[in-house]
Amino acid sequence: MYFDKHVFVCENVRAEGERPSCGPKGSPQLLAYMKKRVQELGLKGKIRIQKSGCLDRCELGPVQVSYPEGLWFSIKTQEDAEVFIQNHILENKPEAIRHLTLKDEE
Ligand code: FES
Repeated sequence: MYFDKHVFVCENVRAEGERPSCGPKGSPQLLAYMKKRVQELGLKGKIRIQKSGCLDRCELGPVQVSYPEGLWFSIKTQEDAEVFIQNHILENKPEAIRHLTLKDEE
């Protein structure tokens, strides 16, 4: 695999009154924070975190998905994003990020 981890962060924006979307729930700020942290940690080139369009789990947003694990997340705050960086990007501690992880049936 080209990257150790490849994370997609939904930044889709829909008009008010339509189906909920991740952009208005702060996903651009979360993406910027996660990208900054990856750069600070010297992981650029190994870890790719990028924006995506709708991932079709809109009601649970902001939504992110990480490969190669195929794990889905609902990271809503900067604190959540840091927990994600520490326990998913830097170390593989699934128990520490369970509260941020979406189940397949959600
Ligand atoms: S708008 Fe983010 S998953 Fe659909």
